[in-house]
Amino acid sequence: MLCGRMESMAAKEWVLVTGAASGIGAELCRLFARDGSCIVLVDRNRSGLEKTSAGLAGEFGAQTISLVYDLSFQEAPEQIYRDLQIRSIEVDVLVNNAGFGTFGNFWETDLRRDQALINVNIMAPMLLTKLFLPSMVKRGRGRILNVASVSGFLASPYASTYYSSKAFLLSFSQGVATSLRGSGVAVTVVCPGPTYTPFDWHNAEDGAPPPRKKYQMEAAVVAAQAYRGMRRGRMVVIPGASNKVLALLAKLLPREFALWLLTFGQQKAREGEVKMNDVRRPPH
Ligand SMILES: NC(=O)c1ccc[n+]([C@@H]2O[C@H](COP(=O)([O-])OP(=O)(O)OC[C@H]3O[C@@H](n4cnc5c(N)ncnc54)[C@H](OP(=O)(O)O)[C@@H]3O)[C@@H](O)[C@H]2O)c1
Repeated sequence: MLCGRMESMAAKEWVLVTGAASGIGAELCRLFARDGSCIVLVDRNRSGLEKTSAGLAGEFGAQTISLVYDLSFQEAPEQIYRDLQIRSIEVDVLVNNAGFGTFGNFWETDLRRDQALINVNIMAPMLLTKLFLPSMVKRGRGRILNVASVSGFLASPYASTYYSSKAFLLSFSQGVATSLRGSGVAVTVVCPGPTYTPFDWHNAEDGAPPPRKKYQMEAAVVAAQAYRGMRRGRMVVIPGASNKVLALLAKLLPREFALWLLTFGQQKAREGEVKMNDVRRPPH
């Protein structure tokens, strides 16, 4: 099977990327396609997947398969796994990127949305890793790239479910990565800070992208650093100097002090100055 342009990887590398329809996931797909990988694009956003897939074919001649799955359903990872088994596709690189946030006092946010968040941000990466990792270990090669967040080093008063979901993914990735030493398989967890993607403009009144804020990194830059770290087998990648400092401070500062700072910062968000995607787009 011919995958893109790079002959050396041509018959070999299949990559599965969740949340491939936009933002960091779509940018990661471009890097894999550039290097000749075949890509299984997974997202709940059908039109976004079509756009990503057409872009990869046009720009790189990449071979892709688009799978529309809603990862908030706990059975989705097994369905994806079975789907690929039927197609005789062995996944060499798994990218757990899909994710979203909720914002507000925990006792006021919607129960179903918090459940969906746990399924998308925690259960799906854990289950997909469970399903695809054994054959990577058997083959003695493979990569897993988990997209967590710098918030995984912190706790938040108003995004407690989101921050703790990323703390899980960070800790889970580090644990599994360590257990895999010497196996030929590596797990990388990337912890971006604020990044300019549709992640936090889902609830823009007219749906139009707001201008990029100074403190936001470009998705392409975040993806490039994550990709390089993953190829080198690094365990943790924190894109951007200020995010590295933040992660360091989170380790050094007492948790109570960090929480006090975040409470102050996020109260502004509650007043409407900054918004996370607390109103989700309807299912596609
Ligand atoms: N942007 C940031 O500031 C930032 C910072 C740190 C970490 N991250 C992390 O980076 C990852 C990618 O986010 P992004 O910034 O690139 O945001 P994004 O552009 O919204 O991309 C996330 C993708 O995941 C998809 N997705 C969400 N829920 C899903 C579900 N239930 N089933 C299948 N697909 C689903 C989204 O589809 P829909 O469009 O249909 O929702 C979207 O295509 C996330 O894990 C996020 O937590 C982002």
